Amino acid sequence: MADHAPVASYPVGLRLAGRRVVVLGAGQVAQRRLPALLAAGADVLLVSPSATPSVEAMATAGELRWERRRYREGDLDGAWYALILTDDPEANAAASAEAEARRVWAVRSDDADAATAWTPATGRAAGVTVAVLTGQDPRRSAAVRDAVVDGLRDGSLAAPHFRAPAKGVALVGGGPGDPDLITVRGRRLLAEADVVVADRLGPRDLLDELPPHVEVIDAAKIPYGRAMAQEAINAALVEHAKAGKAVVRLKGGDPFVFGRGMEEVQALAEHGIPCTVVPGISSAVSVPGAAGISVTHRGLAQEFTVVSGHVPPGDPRSTVDWAALAQLRGTLVLLMAVENIPAIAAALIAHGRPAGTPVAVVQEGTTAAQRRVDATLETVGETVRAEGIRPPAVIVIGDVVAVGTDAGTA
Ligand SMILES: C[S@@+](CC[C@H](N)C(=O)[O-])C[C@H]1O[C@@H](n2cnc3c(N)ncnc32)[C@H](O)[C@@H]1O
Repeated sequence: MADHAPVASYPVGLRLAGRRVVVLGAGQVAQRRLPALLAAGADVLLVSPSATPSVEAMATAGELRWERRRYREGDLDGAWYALILTDDPEANAAASAEAEARRVWAVRSDDADAATAWTPATGRAAGVTVAVLTGQDPRRSAAVRDAVVDGLRDGSLAAPHFRAPAKGVALVGGGPGDPDLITVRGRRLLAEADVVVADRLGPRDLLDELPPHVEVIDAAKIPYGRAMAQEAINAALVEHAKAGKAVVRLKGGDPFVFGRGMEEVQALAEHGIPCTVVPGISSAVSVPGAAGISVTHRGLAQEFTVVSGHVPPGDPRSTVDWAALAQLRGTLVLLMAVENIPAIAAALIAHGRPAGTPVAVVQEGTTAAQRRVDATLETVGETVRAEGIRPPAVIVIGDVVAVGTDAGTA
């Protein structure tokens, strides 16, 4: 086919479940194609004398049948579709001839003109399969595919549901604050929402991007101050979901890490309202990370423990065994502990954690206002006071605090 001739092809979606697909050759191209064939449920017969380690692993796992030999006439018997991908042009030509004779659609990695089918550049996002063919310019196909998939993922390409409008509530973990640290699923659901119930923490900047018709309800829970009662939040979620709205409950970090997420799931379940939980990046790990602290480090910390410090040691409401925590040698990550850090540090020292243990306090991590202050267990209470540290902050206790690079993190 001449390069300049417009190339006509007819796109279809093959439903391959349980149907034989023959793949000849097991190099890089096969490695890229096989996962989608397997995901479609195809009965894959692979014929190749050798295979890449990843393809071999698929055979070992029983995902496909591998015959370790070269192509031979008759291999396409019973096939619905064939991928001719060997590095032997003669074998490819012979397999193409067999495919033609048997009326099996076949792609060719070495000669697109000789193929009877072309593989589009494909991707999936927002429940949509995107497949792009641009004639003989695969890089352009991939670029168009990427543009569409990216747009669907981040919500910049609106893809409304006409058959089954989004219903119920999505409980979305928004990450620690940087708007880039929400998941792609969370961002897409946010773009599709009619109502957003948002916390004070999390990616507040994303709310500015919402279209004007979206109702934003502020569920700000300011520590030790004004708070919208959890019951009121639950009631708002129920009310808007019952009105048929697509509701996003946007929470800081991960919904199930000190986020009362399960209480909201339970409240919705009581009213028979479906709820999708979208995990988020918790501040417990990401805020230390953004400040250059790895909560584990080989040979130094083989565990990290995340603890809420919102009630002090000895308080009857506390369920934390501070004496046991003091015996651990790994990393302690404290959330909601700014107010109580003097009492917590004193309890840890009293129960055996060395007073000189390094401590870092990271305020407003991952945001433009991020600030890190270092101390020891003995000095942290006074340092927090003297430096005017305010919530939200994550406090990291342990030897990992002293590990780092001169280059820091970006
Ligand atoms: C109610 S908890 C919610 C935690 C959240 N679900 C998570 O997974 O990150 C709030 C606490 O998380 C911590 N936190 C959340 N975002 C933070 C940030 N950007 N910088 C520092 N600490 C943060 C603080 O300790 C704050 O008091």
